[in-house]
Amino acid sequence: MLRATLFTATLTSLASAHTAAWAKGMYCKGGADPNTENLNTNTAVNPLYNLTKEKWWFQHDRGCDLVPPPTGEFLELPANGNFTVELAHNRAQTTLSYDGKFASDWLDGKEHPDDWNSWEGPGSACLDDGALHAYNETNAAGTAWAISYESDVTKVTMENLVMFSTLQHTPWKRMATYQVPDLPACPEDGCTCAWLWVPDGCGQPNMYMQPYKCTVTNAQSTTPVAKARAPVYCAGDASKCVQGAKQMIAWNQLDGNNIETGDGSSPGYHEKCGWANGAQTDIFGRPGAGNLGSPL
Ligand SMILES: *[C@@H]1O[C@H](CO)[C@@H](O)[C@H](O)[C@H]1NC(C)=O
Ligand SMILES: *[C@@H]1O[C@H](CO)[C@@H](O)[C@H](O)[C@H]1NC(C)=O
Ligand SMILES: *[C@@H]1O[C@H](CO)[C@@H](O)[C@H](O)[C@H]1NC(C)=O
Repeated sequence: MLRATLFTATLTSLASAHTAAWAKGMYCKGGADPNTENLNTNTAVNPLYNLTKEKWWFQHDRGCDLVPPPTGEFLELPANGNFTVELAHNRAQTTLSYDGKFASDWLDGKEHPDDWNSWEGPGSACLDDGALHAYNETNAAGTAWAISYESDVTKVTMENLVMFSTLQHTPWKRMATYQVPDLPACPEDGCTCAWLWVPDGCGQPNMYMQPYKCTVTNAQSTTPVAKARAPVYCAGDASKCVQGAKQMIAWNQLDGNNIETGDGSSPGYHEKCGWANGAQTDIFGRPGAGNLGSPL
């Protein structure tokens, strides 16, 4: 009953906007038409739901996987450092458009109190920015990044795309800073990254997977990332959590799903699926084992 109410209550606001990470290196930065630079695009923000893997994989449903950034433009990931992107519902609400004059501290370009919260107990409406899929900051499910050492986006697989950073209680404000583990250098043409999010309730149970060209700066280590294994929902029993390199969460799609919660709750990029907050330091394989070392 509660579920149905929440779903209907949030549909109208959800129709208006969702969320993407905006930064150098993103695909579809100017929209899905490579010949037009749309400063007011929201093509990259729309969620993935009930799609075949061919369609959800790197936003192929809207053609974003075919619109890479200009040659040589990368999202830079400093090894053992951090990087910042802008989370927003539209490029216009970031500093990538109009000199940032429509950007605020928040994802929707508006002002909100720091303790913004719509939770008043069961049956509460979600925040009126429905695209946040949340009642308040603690309820924001967490967003994440994964990296593949393949430069060619068509060579990226679930096994070579390894989760390397999570940021709890996001998306919340526009600026989001993620920590980077001791990643080795990328090939000359860069790596392929994905920005990821699975909201926890407050609307359609969907997921986000957005393609990026990325590269690792200040790399010191030569230890490759290990082959990624599917995460396991391990709420309440940490012994069930998968250790080491993990795959992104593929959930609520027509096919290609790799996780089930069994209890009707959403999986997400947090401890209930085996991710500690921040840089994932346990994702590396044996030195010299190639870019896909054995799972630890
Ligand atoms: C999912 O997609 C299939 C095929 O397009 C459709 O038949 C089905 O109704 C959809 N399910 C939901 C829950 O939207
Ligand atoms: C990110 O790195 C910069 C430069 O090393 C540092 O000053 C800053 O405190 C770091 N921020 C976070 C949130 O880790
Ligand atoms: C935030 O929302 C959650 C509902 O998911 C609720 O349990 C929690 O108490 C809320 N936090 C505050 C500070 O109201």
